[in-house]
Amino acid sequence: MVRLLRRPSLYFHFFQLLLTVHNTQAIDLDITSKESICDATSLIQGGMMDYYWGTQYGGTVGMFQPPYYWWEAGEAFGGMIENWYLCQNDTYEDMLKSALLAQTGSNYDYIPANQSMVEGNDDQGVWGLTLMGAAERNFTDPDDGTPGWLAMTQAVFNTMNARWDSAHCGGGLRWQIFTWNSGYNYKNTISNACLFQLAARLGRYTGNTTYLEVAEKVFTWLVDVGYVLLDDTANVFDGAEIDSNCTDMTQIEWTYNHGVVLGGAAYMYNATNGSSDWESRVTKLLKGATTYFFDSNGIMFENACQEYNTCNNDQRSFKSIFSRMLGLTSVLAPFTSDTVDPLIKTSAAAAAKSCTGGTDGHTCGLNWAKGSHDGYYGLGEQMCALEVMQNLLIHDRPAPLTGNTGGSSKGDALAGLNSTTTNVLENKMTITNGDRAGAAIVTAIILGVLTGGAVWMFF
Ligand SMILES: *[C@@H]1O[C@H](CO)[C@@H](O)[C@H](O)[C@H]1NC(C)=O
Ligand SMILES: *[C@@H]1O[C@H](CO)[C@@H](O)[C@H](O)[C@H]1NC(C)=O
Ligand SMILES: *[C@@H]1O[C@H](CO)[C@@H](O)[C@H](O)[C@H]1NC(C)=O
Ligand SMILES: *[C@@H]1O[C@H](CO)[C@@H](O)[C@H](O)[C@H]1NC(C)=O
Ligand SMILES: *[C@@H]1O[C@H](CO)[C@@H](O)[C@H](O)[C@H]1NC(C)=O
Ligand SMILES: *[C@@H]1O[C@H](CO)[C@@H](O)[C@H](O)[C@H]1NC(C)=O
Ligand SMILES: *[C@@H]1O[C@H](CO)[C@@H](O)[C@H](O)[C@H]1NC(C)=O
Ligand SMILES: *[C@@H]1O[C@H](CO)[C@@H](O)[C@H](O)[C@H]1NC(C)=O
Repeated sequence: MVRLLRRPSLYFHFFQLLLTVHNTQAIDLDITSKESICDATSLIQGGMMDYYWGTQYGGTVGMFQPPYYWWEAGEAFGGMIENWYLCQNDTYEDMLKSALLAQTGSNYDYIPANQSMVEGNDDQGVWGLTLMGAAERNFTDPDDGTPGWLAMTQAVFNTMNARWDSAHCGGGLRWQIFTWNSGYNYKNTISNACLFQLAARLGRYTGNTTYLEVAEKVFTWLVDVGYVLLDDTANVFDGAEIDSNCTDMTQIEWTYNHGVVLGGAAYMYNATNGSSDWESRVTKLLKGATTYFFDSNGIMFENACQEYNTCNNDQRSFKSIFSRMLGLTSVLAPFTSDTVDPLIKTSAAAAAKSCTGGTDGHTCGLNWAKGSHDGYYGLGEQMCALEVMQNLLIHDRPAPLTGNTGGSSKGDALAGLNSTTTNVLENKMTITNGDRAGAAIVTAIILGVLTGGAVWMFF
């Protein structure tokens, strides 16, 4: 099918074309009807699944096909779990469950060994937000014997928090986990925003105030270094290099940075029973979000790249998590819903008009202001349309659960802390010592056998 960016063989391509012909239904979104919204998002998820081969030949469970990176799968599944919840449709439940479990890694901390050439703190963090969402939506927990979604979120949080680096810029997480990946000297907003939001959500969910203190610490740092401005402009910049002590700012602004910071602030507002400090921060951040990422008609757009036609695959997915964060903000900080809801409605209606492309007739585009498909297509375009549309339903279902309101996922406050990847530097030591111990035992056994044999031969 035309939307596939890579195909292994002509046969497969032909097969996909045959499959596509059956379903050329157009998207006709009535933003006031749950049935219409869920029909539309069902078609859109079908489009996402074209990029997910999972157990099919050439696919990987829990990963979308190249060129989509590991992190984007975490973002995509987060949106699909929301759809499972908001549309109360369990069609993808088993797929989602096995996808999440396939990528958890041997320590259940979302640092799978085979992603170590690409995985950064932000990638792990985005998966963490998805796991937290699974816990808050009471998404079916893994079977007994496997940690719950909550425990896995705690493992992500604990391993990220252990990488807090006070040696440069007065604190903050680096972009990269592993020293060998480029960007190790960059401290970016999204990594820290993910840690901030995970802490806020875990604090709200568990009632453990230690998390809220971490959230305060991370947010304060983001403001201190000037990544997040709490003045009238309320910019959220991308990050800076540690060589400049994080002062030489990369001033580009992305929806996902802004969204994850805003969402975290809304969780803090809710977890602190509506504190005036957090009310003021949420208000400012929301003002910034509406200023930079919605056009004069109230239609969402990716300001830094969309109109220049320079958005890469990652960036073409950012409006997805941004939409999720706006929806959650309107629920957790209800005073924002008068501002957020109309923007979601306008953007969802506009997004639907972009979903008229491709051989299937409902492939979504990037630019929602065009009134028709703009020629762009991909996993990111599908995800963004999915999340903005399903957030029309955000007030029709209960708010994110907590341990006190029916959330049943199993937790473990210490999860991940004994993992070998908690700290890369310590990790190297641990592995070396472990290997040495292992090697010593093997050597002893071999020597024993040889000596025994030699002794036997001698006699
Ligand atoms: C649930 O989702 C599947 C796949 O998206 C769709 O085929 C089905 O019609 C949906 N069920 C309902 C009741 O909407
Ligand atoms: C990475 O490892 C996991 C198991 O931990 C496996 O399921 C997956 O197929 C591997 N991914 C790739 C891209 O090789
Ligand atoms: C580096 O930045 C941090 C955070 O803004 C600040 O506290 C610290 O004093 C700075 N260090 C130097 C040497 O300028
Ligand atoms: C609260 O969270 C902190 C940080 O993870 C943890 O060390 C502590 O054990 C937790 N307390 C309880 C009662 O779970
Ligand atoms: C919020 O209110 C609840 C219930 O009244 C209380 O138990 C909790 O301590 C409060 N939390 C904060 C941070 O004030
Ligand atoms: C926290 O969120 C819940 C769920 O939407 C809401 O009912 C409650 O009013 C919020 N708390 C505050 C202080 O706004
Ligand atoms: C959450 O799921 C558990 C296990 O399936 C169930 O017992 C519980 O009632 C659910 N909670 C809510 C609020 O639906
Ligand atoms: C790490 O600790 C958890 C308990 O928090 C335990 O279940 C797990 O087996 C431990 N893993 C390793 C590798 O020691």
